[in-house]
Amino acid sequence: MRVGVFQFAPVFGAIETNLKRVEEALSQVEADLFVLPELFNSGYQFASQEEVAQLSEEIPGGLTTERLSRLAADRKMVIVAGMPEYDPAQDKYYNAAVVVGPNGYMGKYRKIHLYYKENLWFSLGDSGFLVVEMASGVRIGVMICFDWFFPESARSLALQGAQIICHPTNLVLPYCQQAMLTRSLENAVISITANRVGKEQRDKDNEELAFTGQSQVVDVQGRVLLRLSETEERVAVVEVDPASALEKKLNVYNHLFNNRRPEHYRSMFPK
Ligand code: ACM
Repeated sequence: MRVGVFQFAPVFGAIETNLKRVEEALSQVEADLFVLPELFNSGYQFASQEEVAQLSEEIPGGLTTERLSRLAADRKMVIVAGMPEYDPAQDKYYNAAVVVGPNGYMGKYRKIHLYYKENLWFSLGDSGFLVVEMASGVRIGVMICFDWFFPESARSLALQGAQIICHPTNLVLPYCQQAMLTRSLENAVISITANRVGKEQRDKDNEELAFTGQSQVVDVQGRVLLRLSETEERVAVVEVDPASALEKKLNVYNHLFNNRRPEHYRSMFPK
C-alpha cells in the first residue's frame, strides 16, 4: 500500500489557490492514501469570527469536499484533509478533517482537543474519533494536530480498529514528530503526520507562527519511513504494510490491548 503527504504553505484565505496547488501536486502521483495538512484550504491564523465564517464550508456539500472528491476519483485514492467546517444545523464552526475516496464522501472528524486561539474560533469536536474502512478493507483513523498531545486520541483510534492514523497538522511546537514514534509503537499503528511549512502573522495582535514541517510516516515499530525537512514544499509517497498493524501481540505473554489494566486507570475517568 502506498501512502503520501503533501507538505506546503497554504495561502491564508485563498481557498481556490490552495485547492489548485493540491490538485496540481497530486496530479502525477500514484498512491492509495494521501494526507493533507490541517486547515489546508483556508490557512491557520484567523483574526476574526467573520473570517472563520467566510472560510468555513459544509462537510459534505461544500466546494472543498466536492473538489477533493473529484480528485480522489481521478487519482483513485483516499484523501484525508483538514479544513474549517460550518454546521448550519447547530450554527457552529469546527476545525475538521474530511475523508473522501473514489466513490465520494466517506466521513469527517471534528478536532476534539483545540489548541491555543483555536478555542476562540471553533467549537469543541462532538463527533468522536473517526475510523473508516477503505475499499481494500484497510481501516484508517483520523486525529488532528494537538490531539497528539493526548495519548488517549491515538489509543482510542487503535482500539476502534484503525491500522493507519491519518494526522493533518499545523504544528508550531517542536515535539510532535518525535512523540508520534511512541504513539505508533505503543498502539502498533502506522501514523501519517502531514504538516505545513511557512509562517503566518495576520496582524499585530497575533504573534508570528512558524510551522515546523517534517511531515512523516512512521511504522508500527516506531521507525521513521519518511520525513521531510522543516521548510520544503513537497509531495512524498512511501510503501507501508497495513497488515503489520493487525498484530498487537509483542510475545507469548504480552499483548498491547489485552494487558491493559483499566481497573487501575480509574483516575483517568472521573465521574
Ligand atoms: C495545533 O493543534 N494546530 C498545534
